Amino acid sequence: MLINLSKKESNFRVIIGTLLITTGTHFLWFLLIPIGWMLIHTGLTYKCPITHLLQRQTQAAKEHLFVNFLPKYNPQPVFIFKSDNKLAFANKPAKNLFPDVTIFQDLVEEDIQILIKQERIHHCSLTLKDGSVYSLVIRGSIELDGIVVYGADITEIVELNQEIIETQKEIVYAMGEIGETRSKETGDHVRRVAEYSELLALLTGIDKTEAELIKLASPMHDIGKVGIPDAVLKKPGKLTNDEFEIMKTHAEIGFHLLNHSSRPVLKTASIIAYQHHEKWNGSGYPQQLVGENIHIYGRITAIADVFDALGSARVYKEAWPLDKIVTLFKEQRGSHFDPGLVDLLLENLAKFLKIRERYPN
Ligand SMILES: [Fe+2]
Ligand SMILES: [Fe+2]
Repeated sequence: MLINLSKKESNFRVIIGTLLITTGTHFLWFLLIPIGWMLIHTGLTYKCPITHLLQRQTQAAKEHLFVNFLPKYNPQPVFIFKSDNKLAFANKPAKNLFPDVTIFQDLVEEDIQILIKQERIHHCSLTLKDGSVYSLVIRGSIELDGIVVYGADITEIVELNQEIIETQKEIVYAMGEIGETRSKETGDHVRRVAEYSELLALLTGIDKTEAELIKLASPMHDIGKVGIPDAVLKKPGKLTNDEFEIMKTHAEIGFHLLNHSSRPVLKTASIIAYQHHEKWNGSGYPQQLVGENIHIYGRITAIADVFDALGSARVYKEAWPLDKIVTLFKEQRGSHFDPGLVDLLLENLAKFLKIRERYPN
């Protein structure tokens, strides 16, 4: 059946059609006459086959879009589980991708009853054996007495994200190594400092995300050494007082290098660069901060940096034996280092030594 035209459009067609026929007859523009006639005809009958065809197509497009939302026709996996945990429905993509799923717990380790009662939307992700990652949107419904799970392939997004993180990590390590190669540190020092800092952060109760941030940022603690002249930095013997004053400026130089960025990693790194030589008793540099006025990032990296420097061999020195390192930390507990952090280091020494084994020079 042809779709009815609106009254307004029909009147408009009759007027334009009459105008075209009049003009066409007057100037002998014969082509205008049949067009005018067709417009008047469709206007008077309220029906036009061309409009009908066009509207049918938009209607079909709308229906197609709507159909995609229906579980059966959804091109992404959709599951429905009833409150007894059992799978009640899985569409074709769901069956193909997750052939082994028969109960809700095969997908998600959650209590189905609670999810149904909450009637909220939950999100989680799932990695398949082939490495592809699916985001799952889970919606409990009291009315349905069950749960609907919509899956979406987010492998590409995850890969892109990972790529960004890896690039960031490599740049950060490269920057850290620039700082270290300017000084006398060598090998995997920055990598170990990163791992020690993360472990210490986790032990203090800092959450995983923030600990990861500290891990990423701590390799840059000595980046300010790029601004120290070779004559001071590479001097083989002991530094004079004046030279040491110059050396100390690496903390501030590092801070100013990184401070302008609003990226969390670089902001964290700027704090670490600035405060990794502060001491608990206020005798450190550059700001002589005392106790908890020193940012926790600075206190953590201070321990990680010294613990590694003592434990690794350098061209100019042997690695210290473990008992000597432990004695030093006990002595410096509360003077150089945060006493609480020293306790955590000593209580969990085995974990720190494992990291040392993993990254030998
Ligand atoms: Fe330093
Ligand atoms: Fe260092």
